[in-house]
Amino acid sequence: MIKLGVGIVGCGNISTAYLNFSKLFKPIEVRAVADIDPAAAQSKAQDFGIGSRSVEELLASDDISIVVNLTVPSAHYEVTRQILLAGKHAYSEKPLVLTLEEAKDLRDLAARSRLRVGCAPDTFLGGAHQRVRQAIDEGAVGRVIGGTCHIMGHGHEHWHPNPDFFYQIGGGPVFDMGPYYITNLVQLIGPVRAVTAMSSAPVATRTIGNGPRKGTKIPVETPTTFHAMLEFQSGAVVTLGASWDVWAHRHKEIEIYGENGSIFVPDPNFFGGTVTVVDPKQSATDLDFLDHPFGCNNVTDTRGISRANYRGAGLADMATALQEGKAHRCNLELAVHVVDVMTSILKAGQTRQWIEMTTTCERPTPLTAREAQSLLAQAVP
Ligand SMILES: NC(=O)c1ccc[n+]([C@@H]2O[C@H](COP(=O)([O-])OP(=O)(O)OC[C@H]3O[C@@H](n4cnc5c(N)ncnc54)[C@H](O)[C@@H]3O)[C@@H](O)[C@H]2O)c1
Repeated sequence: MIKLGVGIVGCGNISTAYLNFSKLFKPIEVRAVADIDPAAAQSKAQDFGIGSRSVEELLASDDISIVVNLTVPSAHYEVTRQILLAGKHAYSEKPLVLTLEEAKDLRDLAARSRLRVGCAPDTFLGGAHQRVRQAIDEGAVGRVIGGTCHIMGHGHEHWHPNPDFFYQIGGGPVFDMGPYYITNLVQLIGPVRAVTAMSSAPVATRTIGNGPRKGTKIPVETPTTFHAMLEFQSGAVVTLGASWDVWAHRHKEIEIYGENGSIFVPDPNFFGGTVTVVDPKQSATDLDFLDHPFGCNNVTDTRGISRANYRGAGLADMATALQEGKAHRCNLELAVHVVDVMTSILKAGQTRQWIEMTTTCERPTPLTAREAQSLLAQAVP
């Protein structure tokens, strides 16, 4: 298999992870970076020993087939649109875009241009989440009837040096962290039929706690607390709490309830974690998934916790799918549906309605241990 050339637009915080982890994957090679701020691109290029180009040069480069969009969410639509108009395949960080109209426009443009669009998150390809998928598909808890998920904390201004976008329209916990949870729920349970929600913005400003702007107050222009309900096409009903106004809680990230038991699902922001199934007699079993490469710990995070991190797996899967003429898993239909769910939660929070989805998607095909291994440049473990 030949390596597809990848270019990155957006050289901020997350680009470091892409530049580091892309080296793990056989089908891709990052060849250049670009940013609206040339200094940001030059600095990242120097750190990783690759070329920096202007955005226009990168989009016109013959050695690049897929352009990864790592810009801020408010720029995602325009940058992905420009990538497609330049005749390149696009892979975007989440959220795909900020409105359903933009999502549908990209879908039409990609179809007309016969180009692929992929979208993060790819954490649902992790060993833990693929093991949950296998357990559900094998009927370990019977028919899924519902669940809960909780995305709660106190926001990002304490660590991110430029956290403004988190609190602007298109930010907030649903657009920021919702994609991890909603995408994983869709891969596990299937597409959503309708949502409702209540929302609030309890404080008007946030104070930056890190970097050169430390102490600067930034305005809050979007709700920061949501209590939503999602009805899936299967009939399952899931409650979703998403907040950046909570200092502490003891909810599990995701719990799935079936007719014959429950599954406790680890944080969908990560590839690994502990998967526990509890049967009607209250007997709990932790499921093993260490045969799946994307479940094996390969990094130590800033808090000293050993984790599995294979960010870029979705991009590598898309590169392979392109070469083999197959569907990729972090695909556009899925991302468009997740945008539909997220924008409907925001709207329901304002209007206090139940909102029916106007989009749907297939559950992405499971990623087996063997398929995951084939994406890697070196065997894991
Ligand atoms: N930071 C994280 O830990 C993290 C984790 C997962 C996903 N993400 C997602 O990744 C994306 C980027 O996040 P980040 O934290 O790296 O942001 P950031 O603000 O650190 O970096 C964004 C970069 O994009 C550049 N940019 C903005 N508009 C542009 C445009 N029109 N053309 C070219 N470059 C442009 C900026 O100059 C900046 O260098 C967001 O969508 C975010 O949700 C971030």
